[in-house]
Amino acid sequence: MVAETRLRDEIDEMLPGVIADRRDFHEHPELAYQETRTAGIVANRLRALGLDDIRTGIAGTGVTALIHGAGVGHGRTVLLRADMDALPILEENEVDYRSRTNGVMHACGHDAHTAMLLGVARLLMDRRDQFSGTVKVLFQPAEELPPGGARPMIEAGVLEDPHVDAVFGLHIDQNSPLGVVSVRPGPYMAAADRFKIALKGKGGHGAHPHDTIDPVLIGAQIVTALQSLVSREIDPISSGVVSVTAFLAGEAFNVIPDTAELRGTVRTFTSENRDLLEKRVDALVTGLAAAMRAEATVDYNRGYPATVNDPAMTDIVRDAALATVGADNVREGEPMMGAEDFSYFLQERPGSFFFVGSRNDERGLVWGHHHPRFDIDEAALAVGVETMTRVALDYLNQPG
Ligand code: NI
Repeated sequence: MVAETRLRDEIDEMLPGVIADRRDFHEHPELAYQETRTAGIVANRLRALGLDDIRTGIAGTGVTALIHGAGVGHGRTVLLRADMDALPILEENEVDYRSRTNGVMHACGHDAHTAMLLGVARLLMDRRDQFSGTVKVLFQPAEELPPGGARPMIEAGVLEDPHVDAVFGLHIDQNSPLGVVSVRPGPYMAAADRFKIALKGKGGHGAHPHDTIDPVLIGAQIVTALQSLVSREIDPISSGVVSVTAFLAGEAFNVIPDTAELRGTVRTFTSENRDLLEKRVDALVTGLAAAMRAEATVDYNRGYPATVNDPAMTDIVRDAALATVGADNVREGEPMMGAEDFSYFLQERPGSFFFVGSRNDERGLVWGHHHPRFDIDEAALAVGVETMTRVALDYLNQPG
């Protein structure tokens, strides 16, 4: 209990610094792969804190560093990850830490993630005598820009030297009130794939449709038919989304165009559904177009895979959250159709991704992620720092 009190006290004492970091990053947002100022501050801070083996410029702007526990015993390594990038959004908040870069904004909370992981690094440096093994902190670029910064960092070798045994990450959550931590074993966030359909018909006068092969009508049939995939080909107990989000064709009121282009997104939680929908979107579109005398080519691109949490690692997060916010405030998260490139780490190593509530209705901090008025209750930073610090300590101190 003494150690716990000290942890809470130390977080209370350092919270203004974590908030100052978050506001500094918020004022100076940087888009994917342009996070040079942020990464520079991160590296300097890690140096000042005395972390070992600080590596910069990984996959562009990524940074990693090590904290070696002083305890004797097995030497597992746990990786803690934060993302650093902002979004191309014009901030509409009237706060004194408002973005100073027109059209760029930390509207997802990655400023908070980076600030929190710096806080966690400081706490763990102070507690090196309380664990054995190694903590690797990782700051990644470009979570918001598929194919994302996680995979190139993995390809650059961040999961080796030393060999990483488990991975953990968190996200600020404007859908949950301040004080709540959400955890979930298994699939948590969806795989996000995209498609582009090029339809080739035959244009002509709008008054003489029999001389044409109308790509607008055929495209409309395709939009409708695609909706049968989830409703009739996916097990209704599981789930998925197929959304056509763009339909580009023609410009005149009396001309049937030659071509049309459709674009959309597909979201799934299992590799079976992911494979099925990829195959069936192509077959349905090309078959339907052929039946209506047109030609269709489907350009299908896989984005981030589903974020699938390891059950045992999720138990560690749940216990850490219970110790931080109490049983009333730990929730079983609902699966989300959004996607997250932390999933690439989870494909390589067991781990868990969790959510830290930051919404405060009374203070009007209610706007969702990627909204121009997104802002968080910064008291959530303390919850995130404490939970993640406990996760690292609990993981490294587990028997076996
Ligand atoms: Ni995000």
